[in-house]
Amino acid sequence: MARDLAQVVVAPAERWVEEAASRIAGGLEASVLARGQASIALSGGETPRPVYQRLAAMTLPWSRIDVFFGDERAVPPEHPDSNYHMAVETLLDPAGVPMARRHRMPADAADRDAAARAYAAELPERFDLLVLGIGHDCHTASLFPGSTALNETTRRVVPSESPVPPIERLTITPPVIAASRARFVLARGRDKAGPVARALEGSDDATHCPAQLARAGVWLLDPDAAAGLTGTPE
Ligand code: 6PG
Repeated sequence: MARDLAQVVVAPAERWVEEAASRIAGGLEASVLARGQASIALSGGETPRPVYQRLAAMTLPWSRIDVFFGDERAVPPEHPDSNYHMAVETLLDPAGVPMARRHRMPADAADRDAAARAYAAELPERFDLLVLGIGHDCHTASLFPGSTALNETTRRVVPSESPVPPIERLTITPPVIAASRARFVLARGRDKAGPVARALEGSDDATHCPAQLARAGVWLLDPDAAAGLTGTPE
């Protein structure tokens, strides 16, 4: 069953943040140890906020870690809806990530398609770690159900549109998710139980449940987000 591709980790609610941050930190440290550097692509949304704050308090070789984004909204970097703004507040500034290691996805550029191409050229061949979330409609990054971006097999970053504001976005594409060395999907709360179950145990249908693209990953869930699963977690 497709669920077998996933490493499902269910952490008690009071341990979920620590578990998620520790595993991401461990992945970054292992990459730097193995290759002298690491790359991570961050998710936006609300779920990762406390995880990024906890990560900022950990001792990591940030001068050797490049921070990218899996998606971004077409808003300026200081806008409250900006994923970059959220990362600066919770992680990049508190952890002292050097400016040269911060790779904002410029979705607010006048020519979003050109910005997508330029950002794709900046990406490493493979992310060491890709942090993703999952939406109520089973989207991940800014790959929304039915999006033409889901059919992209060559471009690594493309414009996309969200069904809810902020509508205009940039997002990584399926090949980037597949090529990442490690995928971490963060989900907690009862409202994510349905999409998590669809993503991990539903019939293969990435067009209508794009989060299935991250099945071969570590799914860091609290008991509420795991409530819809029938299989036994780790
Ligand atoms: C974004 C995110 C998006 C997010 C999900 C879940 O730009 O919004 O990258 O993919 O992970 O929408 O969002 P929450 O964590 O807020 O539920």
